[in-house]
Amino acid sequence: MTGRKAVEVLGSPELAAARGTELFLASAVDAIARAGRFTVAFSGGSTPVPLFRRIAEQAAGSGLAWGKVHLFWSDERCVPPDHPDSNYRLVRDNLLERLPASGPLIHRIPGELPPEEAARAYEAELAQSFPCPGLPEFDMIWLGAGTDGHTASIFPGTDPAAFPGRTAVAVHAAGARHPRVTLTLRVINNARHAVFLVTGKDKAEVVAEILQGKQRDRYPAGRVAPAGGTLTWLLDREAAGRLVGLGIK
Ligand code: 6PG
Repeated sequence: MTGRKAVEVLGSPELAAARGTELFLASAVDAIARAGRFTVAFSGGSTPVPLFRRIAEQAAGSGLAWGKVHLFWSDERCVPPDHPDSNYRLVRDNLLERLPASGPLIHRIPGELPPEEAARAYEAELAQSFPCPGLPEFDMIWLGAGTDGHTASIFPGTDPAAFPGRTAVAVHAAGARHPRVTLTLRVINNARHAVFLVTGKDKAEVVAEILQGKQRDRYPAGRVAPAGGTLTWLLDREAAGRLVGLGIK
């Protein structure tokens, strides 16, 4: 696959979540048919909640073989899994608990451990889950974008060449409430499909900077470009408000 990029603008966060669910289910069915499993990583934050809930609603009737879905996280806060700020808990409460009993296979980032230990444990989990040589190749990685252009827990100022040889690292970002563990950019850019789900007026400026600005690389989210995969930006009309020349679905 060559690096393909798509920008889709939907009329509302709910329509963006519905479109994201279509992409999720299509990618899952394709991966399971091709490789016998679907490997997907979710990000945290508030934006993906409608997506998680929509997937849960739609999955029941889609015939998706959840036992062949391997669920990972793009990043995690270093808190216990039942902490209100846990990205695992966000998915548990809005997706996992709404699925049939035999849900996906969970590969949680152990946020309850000290940050560096948690990162190393997640790297071991990735190495075990993606036994092929080289970088883990996720079928789909879901990402959000902060107003500062961070994605996962890769924040502005992070050297793109940092963490050579690492697939997940601990991050102590100024201003972040907790230390975090994040997939590294090299893993994200090795995905078959990276999908940004970004909604809301507060993201309009950073979205325009990244998608139409001159200094895309200034933002970690702007550095996401899977060389051999597909990059999709799913936006609602508010987040796309500063883009010019794009239609709205
Ligand atoms: C996290 C996320 C983070 C998130 C952005 C956007 O752990 O916080 O992975 O990268 O995607 O901060 O967050 P909102 O969706 O809340 O705007």
